[in-house]
Amino acid sequence: MLSIRDLHLQVPAMLAPMAGVSDLPFRLMARKLGCPMAFAEMISAHALCLGSGRTNRFLESSSADRPLGIQLLGREPEYLRQAMDLIEPGSCDVIDLNAACPVRKVTRKGEGAALLKEPRLLSKLVALLKARASVPVTVKIRSGWDPSSVNAREIGKRVADAGADAVCVHGRTRSQGYGGRVDLGVIRSVKEAVSIPVIASGDLFSAKAVDKTLRETGCDGVAIARGALGNPWIFREIAAVYGKRPSPPRPNIEQLKEVMEEHLRLSVERRGEILGVIDFRKFFIWYTKGLQNARILRPRAVRVNTPHEMRRLIDELGMPLSSGPHPSASQGSPYDPRQGWLALSKSGWPY
Ligand SMILES: Cc1cc2nc3c(=O)[nH]c(=O)nc-3n(C[C@H](O)[C@H](O)[C@H](O)COP(=O)(O)O)c2cc1C
Repeated sequence: MLSIRDLHLQVPAMLAPMAGVSDLPFRLMARKLGCPMAFAEMISAHALCLGSGRTNRFLESSSADRPLGIQLLGREPEYLRQAMDLIEPGSCDVIDLNAACPVRKVTRKGEGAALLKEPRLLSKLVALLKARASVPVTVKIRSGWDPSSVNAREIGKRVADAGADAVCVHGRTRSQGYGGRVDLGVIRSVKEAVSIPVIASGDLFSAKAVDKTLRETGCDGVAIARGALGNPWIFREIAAVYGKRPSPPRPNIEQLKEVMEEHLRLSVERRGEILGVIDFRKFFIWYTKGLQNARILRPRAVRVNTPHEMRRLIDELGMPLSSGPHPSASQGSPYDPRQGWLALSKSGWPY
């Protein structure tokens, strides 16, 4: 069990915050398939204070969407203070501060992973959030800024001293981005240094990888990110491991289509026909990884504009190329850049 103050999760896993991905429809699908807790998309405290409509949308939730974590990005105490006032009491179960985002647009403002270089400011921000929040406050960090400044252990201690209720460590440096392998040793060093719960993040593409990470780091829980893209079933597989049940079978093609259709329906319901379909296009790419005729259908999927056309494409999907775990499960390192999310980055992907 993972306990963050009075928040208790029987299965020690959660859906990690993913900008541009962990929207309400995706969270609801993940929860349906066993995800015990989810983070919404990262929210810029500044944008929230400016009343940006797009940012306000990131706060959308529903009663089925709990427990929910909201992650704030920022470095200005005043904006963070105001952002906390704008988040309705009772609307989330955890507030997280982002000290992990590697994107240049963010770090050049001194936000995200840049906070790893300013431990004092980071502590101050954690204390500020703690003073305002009625729910647990957590911090997401990376192993360090670059290989010559790996400081997750020191940062972990700092944020724990400042009152953080848990820390989530992505075991890569900022300069690594999402490449290379996650460093479990650094995550373990944080776990050994603090008495608050530590959540591990990085390269969690299967229930087996989750088990290995928890064993090797001694961490209290894990945050699943790319491992859930096109594979929300990963959560029921993790739940089976912790419930000491046999691993559930991989979804067959009909079950996959059902989940895709429901995801599309939720997306259209939330965002309307045009934006709902546009939002769903990237999920189509992920869900269809490893399917026989995906190569032919994917270029069509990124041009589809109506729910009807998208449903027809889903209908046309063929059998998986091979049985067994989802293709992402076999990868120790990031997605295949020719097929996965990296390919989408050229078209305005946030990460
Ligand atoms: C598309 C995408 C968006 C992400 N957005 C965020 C974010 O907004 N906040 C955050 O803390 N981490 C973000 N991350 C990082 C993930 O939460 C996670 O720490 C990282 O992907 C490592 O886990 P993985 O190797 O299992 O994917 C993002 C990752 C991806 C792939």
